[in-house]
Amino acid sequence: MIVAFGTDHGGFPIREAVLRAIRDTGHEPLDFGVQHPDPVDYPDIAEKVVDAVLGGRAERAILLCGSGVGMCVVANKFPGIRACVCHDPYSAGQGVRHDDMNVLCLGGRVIGAALAEELVRVFLAASFDRFERHRRRLEKIETIERRLLGLDGRQSESPEAVA
Ligand code: RB5
Repeated sequence: MIVAFGTDHGGFPIREAVLRAIRDTGHEPLDFGVQHPDPVDYPDIAEKVVDAVLGGRAERAILLCGSGVGMCVVANKFPGIRACVCHDPYSAGQGVRHDDMNVLCLGGRVIGAALAEELVRVFLAASFDRFERHRRRLEKIETIERRLLGLDGRQSESPEAVA
């Protein structure tokens, strides 16, 4: 699959390891940079990478920053993106199988190259378990997204908030 990729300076130390793991597992990175360790603003990178997924140019994405958190926060602002920081293999795989996670976020100041490679391998090898309970939960997330976007004709507050 095509895997959109982006990093800021904080994720730079594991950049090459992640790209190598994408290629070594038979996938193709779509690299949005950065290719240097100079400071940049992670929202600028995350937006480009996420746009590639939402626009259909990539199936999944991997984002790196110092902790993984900043990239994750930005990515999840975009409806249709299900991003998470996963620094353990169980979450990296289960996040795809149960939650259809489509963006993996990693922290280059938290984990090293070997663990980053393992997490990428697990993330890319996993596929969504299409059990009814998982699809039902995803549909609930999509319902929330439509409500927040005002696409269902309702206000953006939750029913509880306006009751
Ligand atoms: C950059 O110093 C750092 O804030 C960024 O890489 C990221 O960790 C934010 O979450």
